Amino acid sequence: MDAENRHILIVDDEISICEVLGQFLRREGYTVSIASSGEEGLSILRGGDVHLIISDIKMPGMSGVDLLKQIKADSLSLPVLMTTGFPTLDTAIEALKLGAYDYMTKPFHLEEIGEKVRRAFQSRKLQEENLLFSRLVSLHEVTKTLASTLEVQELNCKFLDFSLRMIKADGGSLLLVDQAGKLAITETAGDHYEPAFWLARPFVAVSRLVAQQQEAVLINAQEPLPDERLLPLPGGCRSMISFPLKTPSRVIGVLNLLRNDAHDPFAGLDLEIINVLASQASISIENVRLYHNIRDNYLKTIRAFALAVEAKDEYTHGHSENVMKYTVVLAKHLGLPEHELELVKYAGLLHDIGKIGISENILNKAGRLTSQEFEEIKRHPELGARIISDVPFLKSLVPMVLHHHEFYNGSGYPLKIAGNAIPFGARILSVADAYEAMTSDRPYRKSLTQSVAFSILNDERGKQFDPHIVDAFLDIMNSGNT
Ligand SMILES: [Fe+2]
Repeated sequence: MDAENRHILIVDDEISICEVLGQFLRREGYTVSIASSGEEGLSILRGGDVHLIISDIKMPGMSGVDLLKQIKADSLSLPVLMTTGFPTLDTAIEALKLGAYDYMTKPFHLEEIGEKVRRAFQSRKLQEENLLFSRLVSLHEVTKTLASTLEVQELNCKFLDFSLRMIKADGGSLLLVDQAGKLAITETAGDHYEPAFWLARPFVAVSRLVAQQQEAVLINAQEPLPDERLLPLPGGCRSMISFPLKTPSRVIGVLNLLRNDAHDPFAGLDLEIINVLASQASISIENVRLYHNIRDNYLKTIRAFALAVEAKDEYTHGHSENVMKYTVVLAKHLGLPEHELELVKYAGLLHDIGKIGISENILNKAGRLTSQEFEEIKRHPELGARIISDVPFLKSLVPMVLHHHEFYNGSGYPLKIAGNAIPFGARILSVADAYEAMTSDRPYRKSLTQSVAFSILNDERGKQFDPHIVDAFLDIMNSGNT
């Protein structure tokens, strides 16, 4: 910034000092404003665009120290040079503690002032560069986090939250284009900036314009509106950035960020930061959408597979869906977190997918199975695990599908592992699967009654099944919570 673009505000109740100082600084090339009281100084400051303040400490009304406190309370990152005709160490220390850049005692040499002003500007530049560097470092971290988030709501929430923090905004809203092609408020952030706040006409107008033009808009309350289709910001709003979220083919939404009138307006650097953040977020939002579409399609296919398995055996009709229901109820009761619950749910649906590779004659055999036929059936967990291990979304289900016939005492199959070595999800699945099988008709027997099935589960506590899970299951069934 050239000296002439640097705006210095002098606050002093002694007009002669203001005039001498003002003249000197103007000669040095600075733009100077003068205020004869703290109150007047504050009002010039809130008008924006002041880069340094030289303020007297002792003034009638608002003192220089009160002015300094107010500036810091407004989080204005301005260097303040204090001047005083009655120097005491206490005043100096208090001013520095409150965040003054430096102080000078009257009468001062103009050269001394010139030097301190130059140093204050240098120090501010350095501070801004440090700030920029630390923001760039955090920006890198933030974009990495966004790229690795796969849940829609979590991604929206993180994106908005990061945007607010990165450019110190007080409130924000994220609007995404819905299936009908309309912008809808998806997420809001900041105290006092609830969804209803963002329905005000100025915000609707700017969001529409930004989506339509695919260009960002920066509105500062004290400057003319950048487009005639826009409306002035509501009272209390100092500055707003509205940013389009784009993929190479279309606009997917708009990000709105706001600062209230207690803070500095947004500047070009804030826009640059949001540019980087929004570009990454747009890619992540679109990726998550695609990911969910693909996942839904995969799951539809896999469901069809599960049905195909059941179609091979008329007796197992609906078995997988029922196992899935019991599994979910059990997993909830056992307090599994949401994402693991989702996994056991699909494992419930897919646990017998490997039967697709087992002969129908064996699956439907009404009589007793020979040991060779039983060995053939016992291959289904491994076959199933192999089928789903090639599907990226289903890979994490492999341990549950592979081990759903392991026994708690180690005498199950395929690996004969025991106790806690059997994945927890597989132990849940094992109880749900056994109960469902026992209470439905099979080629070789009619369904058992509920009470017989309960007593078998009880007998097998610690043998076939994890006792803790049997107890949980019986609890649920006896309390009628299915
Ligand atoms: Fe099975």
